[in-house]
This record gives sequence, C-alpha cells and structure tokens, in this order.
Amino acid sequence: MNTITGKFVNIDQNDIDNVLMALHKRKLNGNAEIVKTYESQLATYFGSRYALACCNGTSAIYLALLALSVSIGDEVVVPPTAPIMTVLPILAIGAIPVFSDVVNNASFGFSPSDLQRHISSRTRAIITVPMWGYPIAIYETLELARQYKIPIIEDCSQAHGTRLDNHYYGTFGDIGVFSTHDRKLVCTGEGAFILTNTELLYQKMIEMRSFGIILRRDQELAPWYGQFGMQFGLNFKISALSAALGCSQLVKLDNKIQCRTFNGRFLETKLEALDWLNKFPIETKGTPNYYSALFFTNKHINSYFLAEHLTKDGIITDVYDFHYTPLYHYPILKQYASNCPNAECLCSSLVTLPSHEGLTNEDLQRIVDCLTSYTHNDYGNSSQGAS
Ligand SMILES: Cc1ncc(COP(=O)(O)O)c(C=O)c1O
Repeated sequence: MNTITGKFVNIDQNDIDNVLMALHKRKLNGNAEIVKTYESQLATYFGSRYALACCNGTSAIYLALLALSVSIGDEVVVPPTAPIMTVLPILAIGAIPVFSDVVNNASFGFSPSDLQRHISSRTRAIITVPMWGYPIAIYETLELARQYKIPIIEDCSQAHGTRLDNHYYGTFGDIGVFSTHDRKLVCTGEGAFILTNTELLYQKMIEMRSFGIILRRDQELAPWYGQFGMQFGLNFKISALSAALGCSQLVKLDNKIQCRTFNGRFLETKLEALDWLNKFPIETKGTPNYYSALFFTNKHINSYFLAEHLTKDGIITDVYDFHYTPLYHYPILKQYASNCPNAECLCSSLVTLPSHEGLTNEDLQRIVDCLTSYTHNDYGNSSQGAS
C-alpha cells in the first residue's frame, strides 16, 4: 500500500531542460539573467508592478519586515492559525507577534473587531495568511489597515494562484510573500518570491536582498556601480538554477490548480453524505487553489484523532504532520498567548486532505473509503480527547 501525503513534487522534462540550460550558461548566482526573466514572468502572471525572487519564504518575510522598518519592540499582528514559519521572522527582528483571532471557526481571515482591538500605537505590520490556499475575507482588513496606516504583508506561501474577485492574493496588500519550497505549487526546492506595487519597497528589498548594496547609475563611473556599507542587508538571493526551475513551474501553475480543483471537488462530492464532516466554506467570489482540500468535523470529533485514523491507512495529512494548533501553544510563543476561541475551534476541527495532481483515482477513493469507515465507535473514543 502506497503512502499518500499532501506533497507531490511535479517535475517534467521542461523543468529538467530549463535547469540544464541554466547550468550550461555557467552563471549560477542570483545576479544571472534567468533570475530577472523569472521575476518578469512572475510580475506578468500576478499582475503586479514588481516581483523579486529570493532564497526561501521565511527569509522573504524577514526581508519584507526589514523593508517596512519593523524593529525591536514593534508589534506585528498575525493570525494564530498560521504556521510557525510566518512568525519566526518577527522574532528574528526582535519584534512582538500579536495574535488576533480569525473571524469564525471555518475561515483563516481576521475577525475585524478582534483585529481592531489588537491594533496599538506600536503596530507596524499586519500579516494575513490564507492557509491551504483557501480565500479569506480581506477587504475589511485592508480597510482597517488603511485607516490606521499600517502596512499589510500577505503570506501567500500556500496560496499561489488563489483569487478573490479575479485578483490574486498577494496583490491586495503592500507586500505579497510566496515560499516556493518543494511542497508549494510553484516549486523551486527552496526559494520564494515577493510581489509589490510600491517602487520604494521594491527598491529597498532589492538592496537588502543583496548585502544592502545601493545600486546607482552613473555615466562618469560605470553603467551601474554599488555603494557598500550605507545600509544593512543580508544575502537573500535565489540561485539561477532555482529561478530556471521557477520559470517552468510557473507555466504549469494554472494546470496544477485545475487538477487539484477537480480532485478537491471529487472529495467534496463523495464525502457529502457524512453527517459529521462539512466542506470548508469558500469565501464568496473566491477561488481556492486546493493546495489541500479542507473540511471540518462536527459532533465533537477531534480532527487530530481522525488524522490518526487516516494515518493508520497510510494517508498522512498536514493536521497530523504538524499537530495543527494555535501558534501560541508552542513553547517559544506561549508568552504571546491571547484569547482566540475561533482559532481554537478551527484547529481542533480542521481536516486537511491531499488533493494534488499526483493522486490517482484509486488514491482518492482510498481517502473516501477511509473516512467513510470512520465509525461512531471511533469518534466515541476521539471525543474523549476533544477539547
Ligand atoms: C504559510 C507559510 N509561510 C511561510 C513558510 C516558510 O517558507 P519556507 O519554507 O520557504 O521558508 C511556509 C512554508 O513552509 C508557509 O507554508
């Protein structure tokens, strides 16, 4: 029996040819022409003025926070339903993560009233995180951010190609960040890209990505020369090989979403009859990318116990893998705990099912059968542990 997981690394001959071509050019660093080509293709696809590629999603969030001048003691508001990678860069900067609740137990968007309560004179950024590629209600968050003049970073690492009103997530706020780790839809092994429409932020991120070097055009000296040591930066560049892979991966993005949508809908239809399992609601006018297919349990069934049941059948879900829980339950984040009842409920009832394009019809049917075989007896046991 094969193991089914949420991850499928979709590599075809075009990907291999692209990487080989980049290798043959023998310029493998982050200043290679292919990086600029990749960035220009990203900007075109997402309809963003600027795109820049970098080494991974965690560093990309760090870079975004640096560009927004977030520093020690500043506050950054995040949903507790995000993964820890969204929050680690906040800690790296010495800033304080402030956890604000989600709007209800089946949405990853902020509750506007709770968000407003958490905004203070020290708030320097708000990070939205549409988990598993599901659209979130973002307009009220944008409105609050505008009102309080707080920039928004969209962490769209799991939401490549997810849309609302025909606009891509990652283009609503000030900066959109997308990891391209090999679990993601556009996959470069390790890597990330950032979108922004603001020239100043773009310029800062370009410079801070590359040791803080300020690039100037000067006829007298050279077409371009770098001023070192004027500002802080690190090396967040992407390698030419990853950028080359990114180009061919981006071409496949629409097709991947189409396959995942087909698989997600298959699971939704087949599982409709289960009275203890509900389809995760999709935001009006929103289009998920089906990074995974989401459901939530009722009747006090704890989704972790359900995930264990699936694991016994060789179906490994993210809820099981990451022991999904509000972030402030992790030891290093306990000191930032806040009252988020909706996030608590969401995390203990969420079911994440693989829906990627590598699944066969038999795999999908196995997932359905495994869930259908989950008996009252099983959830009698599970509810003992349910919170
Ligand atoms: C929502 C989210 N944010 C940030 C990250 C971090 O990205 P990376 O693994 O490329 O550092 C990930 C990926 O693991 C993610 O899913």
